[in-house]
Order: sequence, then structure tokens, then C-alpha cells
Amino acid sequence: MQFDIKKIVRPNIEKLKPYSSAKDEYSGEASVLLDANENSLGSPLTKWYNRYPDPYQKEVKAKLAVIKNIPASQIFLGNGSDEIIDLLFRAFCEPGKDNIIICPPTYPMYEVNANINNIEIKSAPLLPDFQLNVAHIEQLVDPNTKIIWICSPNNPTGNSLDRIDIETILNHFNGIVVVDEAYINFSKQKSFVQSLIDYPNLVVLQTLSKAWGLAGLRVGMCFASEAIVGYLNKVKAPYNISLVAQELVLKALEEVGQVNDMIQHIVDMRIALAEVIASMPHVEKVYPSDTNFLLVKIPNASKLYQYLCTKGIIVRDRSSLPNCADSIRITVGNEQENTLLVDAMAEWIDANF
Ligand SMILES: Cc1ncc(COP(=O)(O)O)c(C=O)c1O
Repeated sequence: MQFDIKKIVRPNIEKLKPYSSAKDEYSGEASVLLDANENSLGSPLTKWYNRYPDPYQKEVKAKLAVIKNIPASQIFLGNGSDEIIDLLFRAFCEPGKDNIIICPPTYPMYEVNANINNIEIKSAPLLPDFQLNVAHIEQLVDPNTKIIWICSPNNPTGNSLDRIDIETILNHFNGIVVVDEAYINFSKQKSFVQSLIDYPNLVVLQTLSKAWGLAGLRVGMCFASEAIVGYLNKVKAPYNISLVAQELVLKALEEVGQVNDMIQHIVDMRIALAEVIASMPHVEKVYPSDTNFLLVKIPNASKLYQYLCTKGIIVRDRSSLPNCADSIRITVGNEQENTLLVDAMAEWIDANF
């Protein structure tokens, strides 16, 4: 593998002179801040929200660096991982020229962002057991292939992808391999974060939206080489993580123990819910899950989905995706929500078979 980030980055981004905020240009302790056209009188909420936040979220990254055991310089934060997915396209993929590879069924935002950015999408569908088709992926690679998107554990199938397969791709591909680990905390698999030292072409995405329970704050994490983080910093909006989000994340990161207990509780509920659903008549399959959701195969899944909607219970109908005919994806809820779901499913099965 001969990976050279200078050959991957878009030439205009390499040359880009990024926006430089006042906070970039001055790092001392200032007492009179008349640089950013803020409102010095304060706000009806609190006095301090009148100021722009730290553009590089240094305090948050310092804490994350300890938790994840990685230098802060190798961390990039986005307005959800969704923002980071878009920034990866904008930094590394030339519209109308480059292409990416996805492995459906998978998280739809890789495809959506490719389309927004006018990047060709090549597809190497997962095999029937929902593992990577490495030979197909390697066949699809051409000199304009910039990013291979891998989601593990995968959404919506719930399984972790074979580590050796991912390593094979990392070893053979000269572009960027993104491993999206949004659900890694629910799995027993080892994260790829500690493999960054071996693979300069690896980008690992994680998020505070799932295991950490902070979807509303919109904070996604990217772990990558300093060079890749540098390009993402160049293309991001200056203040992409709000001050409120930075403050609350700092507090949340103090509670690793509580979060680990919550993860265990969700995993226990997932196991129990999978057992109950698998034992229902006519349920064809509850796929093994390393996440906080279950993919369930049942005849007429779309009708079940509609019935659940009438009961105010919203799941995802994934039936139109490759190898997912008649499948719904159910997020593990709290005990009460899980009971309501099971009761409604039982009612529908009774009435329809
Ligand atoms: C695989 C995967 N990646 C990323 C995301 C988006 O995460 P965020 O909330 O950090 O934007 C999701 C959300 O469902 C997801 O399933």
C-alpha cells in the first residue's frame, strides 16, 4: 500500500486559505473582546452565550484524548458524524470526477452525501451473510476511487464486519477507508481507533448520539491522522460545535461509568427483546445484533410497519434494501416502549395470519 494524502486531497483544498477567526489569530488572555462583532452586553439567557465558542473544542478534545487513548491532534469533532461524512467528501472527492465505494445495505448518508457532492457511487453489496465482498470491492477500485465506506457494526443489519476483511482493504487500497463505528459501544468488538498507528489511510467515525445518549447535542467524532484532521479543519465552518454542546459534552464525559452501565442495560434489553420477538409466530428471523437495534424479518413487514404507525409506534421499514426483503429495523427502547412494541406486534400477528 502506497498511501499519499497529497494525492487524495482535492487540489483546491490543498491550496485553500481557510477562514481565520480572531480566536485563531490571538491566543493570549484578553479582557476586552472587540474583534468578532459579538454583543458585549450579554443575552437574555446567560452572559456567556454572547461569545463564539472555541473553534477547535480544545477542552473537549483533551478529555476525549484521555478516554480514547489517542492524541488530541488526531481528533476532529463535527455537528454529528453526518457533518463529518459531508466534510470528507468535500475535502477529498472531486465533483464530477472521483468515485467512492459503498457496501449496501448500509447507512444511507454515504450515498446522499455522494449525490449532494456529485460523486459517482460504486456499490459492492454485502454478501447474503451481511459480510463484505472484498473481491468485489477490489474489482471496483480505479484510480479515481477516493473513499471506501465501511460501517461496522453495520446499520441496518446490526452485525459487525469481519476485522480481517477490513484490514485487507486497508492494506490494499491507496485511498481513504472510513470505518463508521457509530454503534461500537454496544459491541464486544475492538474499535479500530488503536489501529490508526498502523494505517495512515484509516478514518474512524464515532458519535455521542447513540451509546452516550446525546443525539440532540449533535456531536460526532472522527479519529484520523493529523494530516487528515488538518484538511477537515480547513474545510469546516469556523464554529461548528456550539458552546452549549461543548459545555454539556464536557460534563457528560465525566460520567463514563454511568454511560457504561446504561450501555449494559440497553444490551440486556436488546437480548431480551430479540428472544421475545424471535419466539413470536411467523417471525422468520431476528438477526444477531452488535448494536442498539434489531433487524427483524417477517412476512408483510411493510404492513406491520404501517400497523405500528397507527399505534403511534415508529420503526423503520427496511424492506426495499438489498437482502432485506420483508425486514423492519427496531430500536431498543426503554422497558415500557419495548412492551408496547411487543404487544402491538403480537396483536398484528394474531389478526393477520
Ligand atoms: C452508522 C451511522 N453513522 C452515523 C450516524 C449519524 O450519527 P450522528 O448523529 O453523529 O450524525 C448514524 C445515525 O443513525 C448511523 O447509523
